[in-house]
Amino acid sequence: MSIRTSQIVEALEPSATLAMSGKAKELKAAGNTVYDLSVGEPDFVTPSHICEAAVDAIHSGKTFYTVASGIPDLKKAVVADYKTLYGLDYAFTQVGIANGAKHALHNAFFATLNPGDEVIIPAPYWVSYAELVKLTGAVPVIIETKESNQFKLTPDMLQEAVTPKTRMFLICSPSNPTGSMYSPEELGALADVVLKHDFFVVADEIYDRLVYGDVPFASFPTLREGLQDRVILINGVSKTYAMTGWRIGWSIAPPNVAKKIAELQSQETSNPCSISQYAALAALQGDQSCVEKMRVEFEKRRRYVKQRLDSIPGLTCTNMDGAFYAFFNIKQHLGRKYHGVQVKTSEQWCMELLIQKNVATVMGSAFGAEGYARASFAAGMDILEAAYDRIEEFIKS
Ligand SMILES: Cc1ncc(COP(=O)(O)O)c(C=O)c1O
Repeated sequence: MSIRTSQIVEALEPSATLAMSGKAKELKAAGNTVYDLSVGEPDFVTPSHICEAAVDAIHSGKTFYTVASGIPDLKKAVVADYKTLYGLDYAFTQVGIANGAKHALHNAFFATLNPGDEVIIPAPYWVSYAELVKLTGAVPVIIETKESNQFKLTPDMLQEAVTPKTRMFLICSPSNPTGSMYSPEELGALADVVLKHDFFVVADEIYDRLVYGDVPFASFPTLREGLQDRVILINGVSKTYAMTGWRIGWSIAPPNVAKKIAELQSQETSNPCSISQYAALAALQGDQSCVEKMRVEFEKRRRYVKQRLDSIPGLTCTNMDGAFYAFFNIKQHLGRKYHGVQVKTSEQWCMELLIQKNVATVMGSAFGAEGYARASFAAGMDILEAAYDRIEEFIKS
């Protein structure tokens, strides 16, 4: 007898990126050099003062369960950070430290959504949003944005998507996968729509410190009076401090929601790794020059990637104001053959690029945008140069 799996997991879409990473691993195992631009993580190692804090935590016995929703010192450091960076005032009890920002999103969704609630999500969107929302029984309402508007949702589009069932609006700026970032004015105009209605906002600000253009980053609750009670903030150390493997992220929520998030986590996972929490504390309280150093390096790579993409006929790419992804339009190069292989979809295009040129990217369809591909620039310049030479050869083949 085989064990029947649940309706909930049966309804989950498996990650479309797994097919790509599986193939990339297969090619690597066969001895090929693979230029991997599919990953969503900094290529830098975690700065050494953060690692040392973790070692100290181990040797000084900080190896016991902590408060389920995280150590007060780390919560206080998060609150101090939002005060220093954005002038926002929160009580430390409003912070929930989770096992990564993805887990913080899961907690926020499970603490607030009921079956049938609608969640407005602009596309292209980060792969996990819709699936995490569906796990709660709520309904993702996907709104397609336009490349010509830098993949940004307009107030009219948001207004049109609102129904009596709308419960949440999910926004990610700077965006994974597009790299677009809303200006304070654009976000303010969206905030005006929110304030006219009865739903709240989850603002995923995990790329807030990786911003490149002249437009400043604005944290969503700063935009209008009265927003702070209507926004759950999501952030973490994964991207800012090159700490993806440490698994520390957080939510900052209105007190009643924060209390429920803490209770939920106490039943589901208990505390995030105590050692990682002390490492994250050192990250937030320590010298911030490591963040700027990495940002400057990303900025250099971003300039290079943009110039390479702009020089390839038939590809278009928006500005990449933040995060570390290029999201480029490949529509003109679909529907043709590459070394005899017919390629119709972004999935086939990315797979053929991987098979024929050993460059791993992710198909736009995984982000709700067919006809695009996402390539990370969180890779060394040598890898980027070789990868873009190969992408160019592939396109010209
Ligand atoms: C937009 C966005 N939110 C959340 C996450 C999850 O971050 P973490 O690794 O801290 O769970 C990612 C990671 O790729 C992301 O791109």
